[in-house]
Order: sequence, then structure tokens, then C-alpha cells
Amino acid sequence: MDLMRTYNWEMPARLVFGPGCSKTAGEELKKLGGSKVLIVTDRGVEGAGVLSGILEALGNAGMPYTVYNGVEPNPSIRCVQEAAALYRAEGCDCLLGVGGGSAMDTAKVTGAVLNNGDVDIRAMEGVGKFSNPIPPLIVVPTTCGTGSEVTLTGMITDTERHYKIPILHRFIFPKVALIDGSLLTKLPGPVVASTGMDALCHALESYTNLNTNPISDALDLKAINMISQWLRPAVANGNLEAISHMVLASTLAGMGFANTRLTIVHALSHPVSGFYGVPHGVANAVLLPYIMEFNLIGNLQRFADVAKAMGEDTFGLTEMEAAKLSVKAVQELNQDVGIPSTLKPYGVTEQHLDAMVEDTFKSGNIVLNPVRVNREQVTAIYRRAMQ
Ligand SMILES: [Fe+2]
Repeated sequence: MDLMRTYNWEMPARLVFGPGCSKTAGEELKKLGGSKVLIVTDRGVEGAGVLSGILEALGNAGMPYTVYNGVEPNPSIRCVQEAAALYRAEGCDCLLGVGGGSAMDTAKVTGAVLNNGDVDIRAMEGVGKFSNPIPPLIVVPTTCGTGSEVTLTGMITDTERHYKIPILHRFIFPKVALIDGSLLTKLPGPVVASTGMDALCHALESYTNLNTNPISDALDLKAINMISQWLRPAVANGNLEAISHMVLASTLAGMGFANTRLTIVHALSHPVSGFYGVPHGVANAVLLPYIMEFNLIGNLQRFADVAKAMGEDTFGLTEMEAAKLSVKAVQELNQDVGIPSTLKPYGVTEQHLDAMVEDTFKSGNIVLNPVRVNREQVTAIYRRAMQ
């Protein structure tokens, strides 16, 4: 553990955990000064009945609301523009994001657009590219993967360029996150699998990149351990105990990577989602073992730690042998929860390979990868994952 290096830790969101806590959203919004809220969500969340309890509780709390339910997977610029227009038309003064990363990211970036003169979303790409704080924002995650409830990141897709725009700013941290496992028990198994594997990527990438710190280390290893233990039963039957562990693990991983960032797993997965619409968690999960094999030699000790956290018996093994077990553990977890071993089932081919490699290198996480990486190596990883 390196305690000789200066590092920064920031996590301004207040977190409330527990079954039923999402029903306090109205009271929480009032505490933040809100008088009418725009709920940013998607039709899947609405159709699954997840929203109804929250709407009822908002009514009981005397908090008027308008619902924007047009969030898409890999949300586009249009989603943000529509949500911002509805917010203004309905005279809202606060935001409630209910859903997975797509809904929460849309709510975050909508807030940034609203309070920054409708700035072009493309001009917000990168870190700290706008000036004014967003309106009060509360989020309620309904998947167990993105960690968006505790990150300073919003990812919005420019559909014309097939490019996911990363928008990072400390102003878009939600003020409060209501983490209510009871909302996730009816989540379909494949969604639990893909979002849970996304959370594993967050923790694993955070733990093995070049920007680690002791606080993130603790959160990341705990998250890896919990996901290894609870993802399978959460996918199998969504029982409250398993899903509550998963949503907590997702939040822990989010807190970790919000402070350390990631590696090239996400850098390679965003173009896969941008060009082919592959769900974010699936793209990450498929790519993860290929990239772990590439990254092992960058920090054998940390990959050996991952193997141990995933329950592998590393006693008496060399560091390399133990590190390799982390790849095996991830492959087995992918297989058990129904994630394919390649991107082929999703129609990913070499058609856009050059552009995908180009977009990979736009990621700020490239420089944090534990192994230096060039275009030929990224091309080779993509090719292996497409077979
Ligand atoms: Fe992710």
C-alpha cells in the first residue's frame, strides 16, 4: 500500500440504504428546496411497476411531479434535450433520476444543460467543462451495476458519430442516492447479469489501474468479493438478500472508481456499445477476461488479490499462477450468469474496427491502464473478442 503519495477522495452524495427507502424521495427533495420534480426514467422501469410506489410516496409527501420516460439504453443527446424541454415547460425545479445508469446519467447531464445556458453537450466532453452547478438531483438506482449514483460521470451517446461522450464534473454528483434493494427483485436475470458484471469491471479496473488509493482498494476488494458471492443467486432468482448485496456492491465499486477511474476495459467497451448498441455491461463483461490476460503482467500482485477476493485458492501458488486464477474466475462467473464468451452473437465484426480503435484512444483511462497499450494491441484484443 502506497501511503507516500498524495491522493484525493471525494464522495459528496448522501447515501440512504434499505428496502423501502426510495419512498422518502419526496421528503428528501423538499429538504433540498424542491417544489416540483422532473422524474427522469425509462419505459422499462415504468412498465415494470418500479415507479408506482415512488409516485405514490411523492403524492403523499405533497411533491408535484412530471415524468419523462423517454430514456433509451446508451442515452442520446436527444433524450437530454427532451428532458430539459419538459423540465422547463412544466416549471420543475429539481430532478429525480430513477433507473439504471442511462436514466441517472440523463438526469445528471440534463441538470448541467439546464443551468448552463443549453450548452452543446458535445462541448461538455471531458472534465469540468461547464460553470454552474446543476439543480438539486436525487437518484434511485434500479439496476445493480452502474454506480452512477455516486460518480461524477455522465455518458451520453452522439448517435451521429456512434460515440459515447464522457462528461465529468464534480457538479453532477447527485445530492442524495436512495439505494433500495426491494426495487430490484423483479429485474430480469440477464439485466442483473450484465449490470452486475459492469459493477465487477468497475471494482476490478479501479483496483488494478495506476491511480489506486487505500480507500478505493478497500471498497474495490469488498465489492469484488460480494459480487463473486452474490451475483449468481441474484441472477437465478432475484431474492432480496442477494439483490441487496449486489446493489450495495455496485455502490461500493462506484465510490471506488469515481476516485480512481478505470482501465482499458471501459475504453474498449464504449465503442462496442456506440457502434453496435451492445448493452454496456455485456460489452464490458465479454471484454474483461481478454483484457485481464493482457494486463496481468502490469501488476501480478493485484490480480492475485482479485483471485483471492473471488474465492480462488491461491495457497502455495506463484504470483503469476495466482494472478491467472483471476481470469479463470471471471470466465466462470460470465459463463454461469449467461454472458457470451465473445462479441460475435451481437453482430460485432471488423467493419468498424479502425473507428473503434480510434475512439478507444479518446478515453482518459488509457493512461491509467497497468500495461502501456498501442493501437496494434487494442486491435488484436478486439479481434480476439470478436471470434
Ligand atoms: Fe460501467
